[in-house]
Amino acid sequence: MKITVCFDKLSPDPWVQGLQSALPQARVSAWSPGAAQADWAIVWTPPQQFIDEQPGLQALFNIGAGVDALLKLQLPPGLKVVRLDDAGMSVQMAEYVCHAVIRHFRELDGYDADAQAGKWSYRKPRSRSDFPVGVMGLGVLGQRVARALKVFDFPVNGYSRSPKQLDGVRCYAGPEALPAFLQASRVLVNLMPLTPETENILNHTTLSQLQKGGYVINVARGSHLVDEDLLSLIDSGHLAGAMLDVFRTEPLPAAHPFWQHPKISVTPHTSARTLREESIAQISGKILALQRGEPINGVVDPGRGY
Ligand SMILES: NC(=O)c1ccc[n+]([C@@H]2O[C@H](COP(=O)([O-])OP(=O)(O)OC[C@H]3O[C@@H](n4cnc5c(N)ncnc54)[C@H](OP(=O)(O)O)[C@@H]3O)[C@@H](O)[C@H]2O)c1
Repeated sequence: MKITVCFDKLSPDPWVQGLQSALPQARVSAWSPGAAQADWAIVWTPPQQFIDEQPGLQALFNIGAGVDALLKLQLPPGLKVVRLDDAGMSVQMAEYVCHAVIRHFRELDGYDADAQAGKWSYRKPRSRSDFPVGVMGLGVLGQRVARALKVFDFPVNGYSRSPKQLDGVRCYAGPEALPAFLQASRVLVNLMPLTPETENILNHTTLSQLQKGGYVINVARGSHLVDEDLLSLIDSGHLAGAMLDVFRTEPLPAAHPFWQHPKISVTPHTSARTLREESIAQISGKILALQRGEPINGVVDPGRGY
């Protein structure tokens, strides 16, 4: 069994070593142009040349949950594309989103500013029933986030493409339910995949349907959000602010207004990082399962785009 590793802007060496130890019977190597045919590939934003030179692959394993960049390539029809299925990401996402929601709800930035000014000040406690959180995307990450928010007793709404039932979460499904979901939510957490249907979905029309004083947490993809619409709704006072982890252009350009905006917090696409050991264990387990002819989770449906 031959495994090739092809990463953009990331050293393949520790992955090659890790996969080799997990699958001693395999021959694992880093791809370079003209390399021999492999059976399985582990990739992160590979070039089209890689796909064109490896027509014999049985599956392509993406080392992230989002496959939007990969699906922009010309892939041979029928090639199995497999995404990471949690692999340690959902707990990171839950802690990031709970932090963002609690920091906003408890006005911790305000206390921080007061402390910087040496001011001992109290703010009136706010009621969490006034802060319903809407989680857009109830997949592997969104469900974990929704469950984590319930631990703090926030009212939680969920939105997905197909209907879902989740304990304690008011679930909405499909585009016709989107306005009701938004109107029922004050804090919005985006955890949808980037597809032609979801690109630019956080725009003036949708964001203005959030309850007054709304707050946006975007941890999915930058191209979900129309930047100018977010800025104008914050500046008009309809939205209270945002915490953003993902951007249309990454790294976020130095001149982008998000950096300096007093009501926007920026983090560098770090809310849920790929953990190498967990990912290697998951991918090698899936290669062995596929070899035995068993079904696996995390196979991407190219028609749906995720
Ligand atoms: N910032 C980071 O560090 C980071 C890390 C990992 C992942 N991500 C992003 O997070 C995204 C979600 O990951 P995941 O593993 O939770 O994905 P997932 O398991 O595929 O779940 C996607 C969810 O979005 C819903 N959805 C898809 N298209 C929709 C549409 N048009 N309208 C309404 N709902 C729609 C799906 O609905 P159904 O349940 O009906 O299919 C599903 O509930 C990834 O695609 C990636 O972009 C970001």
